[in-house]
Amino acid sequence: MTEDIYLTGITTTGTPHIGNYVGAIRPGIAASKDLTTKHFYFLADYHSLAKNEDPDKIGQSTLEIAASWLALGLDTEHAYFYRQSDIPEIPELTWILTGMTAKGLMNRAHSYKAAVQANVDSGNSDPDKGITMALYSYPILMAADILMFRSTKVPVGQDQKQHVEMARDIAQRFNHHYGEILVLPEAVIGEDTAVLKGLDGRKMSKSYNNTIPLFADEKRLRKLIMKIKTNSLEPGEPKDTADSTLYDIYKAFATRDETREIERLYAEGIAWGEMKQLLFEYINERIKPARADYERLMADPAVVEAELVKGATRARELSAPYLDEIRHAIGIRKLG
Ligand code: TRP
Repeated sequence: MTEDIYLTGITTTGTPHIGNYVGAIRPGIAASKDLTTKHFYFLADYHSLAKNEDPDKIGQSTLEIAASWLALGLDTEHAYFYRQSDIPEIPELTWILTGMTAKGLMNRAHSYKAAVQANVDSGNSDPDKGITMALYSYPILMAADILMFRSTKVPVGQDQKQHVEMARDIAQRFNHHYGEILVLPEAVIGEDTAVLKGLDGRKMSKSYNNTIPLFADEKRLRKLIMKIKTNSLEPGEPKDTADSTLYDIYKAFATRDETREIERLYAEGIAWGEMKQLLFEYINERIKPARADYERLMADPAVVEAELVKGATRARELSAPYLDEIRHAIGIRKLG
């Protein structure tokens, strides 16, 4: 039996928020403590080019995401933690895979189709208006990320499942042509990883601008929690925990007993203002130690850079010889 290899990428757009923490960072760090499996976590900075982000924002986001994972205790001796753009074998493999990718497969990508649909809906005469080749070929770069390290399991959100399936299709086609060289991956969709709601009650997401940054300072954290949408029930009136963002966030951080205690307070009719204060104090206490580490790392980016360079060096010990093997198989060979 071969050991499982887990790999997941984080696109370098935006500041990590508590939804990212609960949905991806916390389970990722917990999984990385399993020494019987291998774990790859990387910053997908080339992916952020698909939407032509502001260059300074990409750099800032890279630093914030890396500092967050490190502050929260990712073990970078065991897990591979690197930046995509530090691994030149990834874009090389992307081009090689591009030769094995049916254009029709890319036409079916949900994200591309959604972009076309948006153009059609807004009455644009060109359905491809504003769509870059980087957006169109995004799944091929993602396939290279996955296949480069022979990953077997790819933990992603539901929205990324199709991309992992495409990586599998591309690998299959490659192997059919060139022999059994690539490993077929499968998506792992976390069932127990909660999707947190944001300030306005919709899914917490940077595209909705409703997030609570994970390491917001105390004052800001308090202010944001006070903004979370509630209904208009008065203090003393029993409240329902279903459909309560305050409750969901509390629950995502708390133990079962603590959550039960909150359920009791809801039934007793705790005032929303009181619940907000309680949630703020609770989360703030939990985040405080890691926040101090995060602030230290943000003030000293060279430490973060050194970690990423270390991760890339370790990762390239695997990717460089593997790419040589792949190149040989497809006929890009040394002469003589
Ligand atoms: N596209 C993924 C996202 O937006 C990020 C990503 C890039 C990724 N490469 C990956 C995830 C490889 C898993 C495996 O969430």
